[in-house]
Amino acid sequence: MKISAVIFDLDGVIVSTDEFHYQAWKQISDQEKMYFNREINERLRGVSRMESLEIILSHSDKNYSEKDKQLLAQRKNEVYCALLNKLSPNDILPGVINLLLSLKARDIKIAIGSSSKNTPFILEQIGLAFSFNAIADGNSITNSKPDPEVFLLAAEKLGVAPEECVVIEDAQAGIDAAIAAGMKAVGVGTAASCVNAQLTLKDLSNLNIDQLIEVNEIRS
Ligand code: BG6
Ligand code: MG
Repeated sequence: MKISAVIFDLDGVIVSTDEFHYQAWKQISDQEKMYFNREINERLRGVSRMESLEIILSHSDKNYSEKDKQLLAQRKNEVYCALLNKLSPNDILPGVINLLLSLKARDIKIAIGSSSKNTPFILEQIGLAFSFNAIADGNSITNSKPDPEVFLLAAEKLGVAPEECVVIEDAQAGIDAAIAAGMKAVGVGTAASCVNAQLTLKDLSNLNIDQLIEVNEIRS
């Protein structure tokens, strides 16, 4: 199968916002006296804001109404966005720019497939707002990863068949979403130990297009 597009997750693949998510949830958890640590934070990768809150609350005996949960998530997002103000193009992860340029040079389309509703703001902060052929994000989906919706939407916006797309992800939920979409998946960073990915890497520094083509030729 030829490769027509590469769909990038944003947080943890293009830019490392993980620490900001952790700090923001930690601040709210401390204020609310809810239990939260880095191990729980790992389970929030790729998961939507409201589902992340539910995971945190499952470790606590606190009960909140739906309205209060919305307010908590809103407070977390305010803290998180204040931290995002510090982001700059210097925070783009190793290998990303080279890979985007080589894909463009080979006429392979590039898209974002992210659960984050802050995707437009983050891309603007790091100077990549106009770099992708399509953006599918938390603002345009109903079901978050591991549901395949965000990647299928990205493929649809690109006008490309799902089987011709390779996804690059740092989250188990994202790898599962890619596979459920009928796409191949490359796991980077924290997903480097993910068994379901067709290829795993520490970061994108040494990934070349021939490797991506090989990944897409692997039979499911
Ligand atoms: C994902 C992150 O990219 O976006 C998750 O990995 C986060 O940790 C999710 O919860 C939603 O982000 P946001 O920016 O919409 O709160
Ligand atoms: Mg991610």
